Amino acid sequence: MILVTGGTGLVGAHLLYALVNGGDKVRAIHRKSSDLDAVKNVFSYYTNEPEKLFNLIEWMEADITDVPSLTNAFKDVDYIYHCASYISFNPRHLPILKKVNVEGTANIVNFSLAEGVTKLCYISSIATLGKSNKGALINEEVEFNPEDKNSVYSITKHEAEMEVWRGTQEGLDAVIVHPGVIIGEGIWSSASGGIFRTVNKGVKYYTTGGVGIVDVQDVTKAMILLLKSNIKNKNFILVGENISYREFLTEIADGLGKQAPKKSISKGMMMAFASVDWFSNKLFRTKRKLLKATVRSLYNESFYDASKIEKAIDFKYTSSQNSILRIARNFQRDYKH
Ligand SMILES: NC(=O)c1ccc[n+]([C@@H]2O[C@H](COP(=O)([O-])OP(=O)(O)OC[C@H]3O[C@@H](n4cnc5c(N)ncnc54)[C@H](OP(=O)(O)O)[C@@H]3O)[C@@H](O)[C@H]2O)c1
Repeated sequence: MILVTGGTGLVGAHLLYALVNGGDKVRAIHRKSSDLDAVKNVFSYYTNEPEKLFNLIEWMEADITDVPSLTNAFKDVDYIYHCASYISFNPRHLPILKKVNVEGTANIVNFSLAEGVTKLCYISSIATLGKSNKGALINEEVEFNPEDKNSVYSITKHEAEMEVWRGTQEGLDAVIVHPGVIIGEGIWSSASGGIFRTVNKGVKYYTTGGVGIVDVQDVTKAMILLLKSNIKNKNFILVGENISYREFLTEIADGLGKQAPKKSISKGMMMAFASVDWFSNKLFRTKRKLLKATVRSLYNESFYDASKIEKAIDFKYTSSQNSILRIARNFQRDYKH
């Protein structure tokens, strides 16, 4: 039996499809508030009979921060994909980030050890890797540096990884993947979904940084191959392409048939917007729309060498141009009315 956490999220939903379509016996945990229809929608990109495959999944209500709720979920589990996470760059969200990402992962590791799980695949992020000297590509050897200006998200994802490595010291076999920004269809509230929604409304400006992107289908494929392989206690970056924001936004705009942004906007200007946003939140309790951590990431110049996985297993990245075209097509299908 395979257990999937975070099955109602972007990665988890695509992963569930790949697993059940491949004939695996799968259990997925969800919360009372989870949107299971969104998972069916993801299945509908792949098949005309989404309901049929969806019904092959054994759904169980559980929260990774609630130990008793996990007891039944771990019965007879051999393999686990741990995709559940809280994603936020807002420093105010540190308590919940710690609770879900660190404590939740510790719970998953402890149950895996106690129930004799054969292997765990944990999805981390490139956010847990260190910075490199300007121009040098970052690989798996570039370790997290607590002295860097790390976001609350990366700090808690790094601590979560430490829980997984602790598990391996105690006898659990595990692999960790570090994807860049994951582009994929279906869960349009996700980070990359937000980019497609924004470009669809029209963007005039681009920021001068860049980003490592990867197709959600490549992420799930790599995770499945790694879990099924003999590889253990290793970590792998997953980045299909290092791309400038200008190029990224232009490719999405082209895919959606919208105008591509023509002008760049300076980091100083964006930081000024973030400060106004901060003051407005303090004075008028308005919702934060632009965090300084977000601005920093929009001017990011960290790029990645993601070739380790291609040398370790039979895996090739999809061309990101093709991925963006496919996702744009599916975006238009979902937003046509
Ligand atoms: N998206 C990216 O660009 C990206 C990039 C790099 C790494 N990652 C990592 O990839 C993983 C999956 O990301 P994603 O984009 O698929 O995230 P997502 O769409 O935000 O989904 C998060 C999932 O976690 C579940 N979850 C949150 N708190 C939980 C809790 N306390 N107990 C049980 N489940 C809980 C959510 O369930 P509900 O439906 O109940 O809310 C949802 O299924 C995460 O570990 C993330 O850090 C994502």
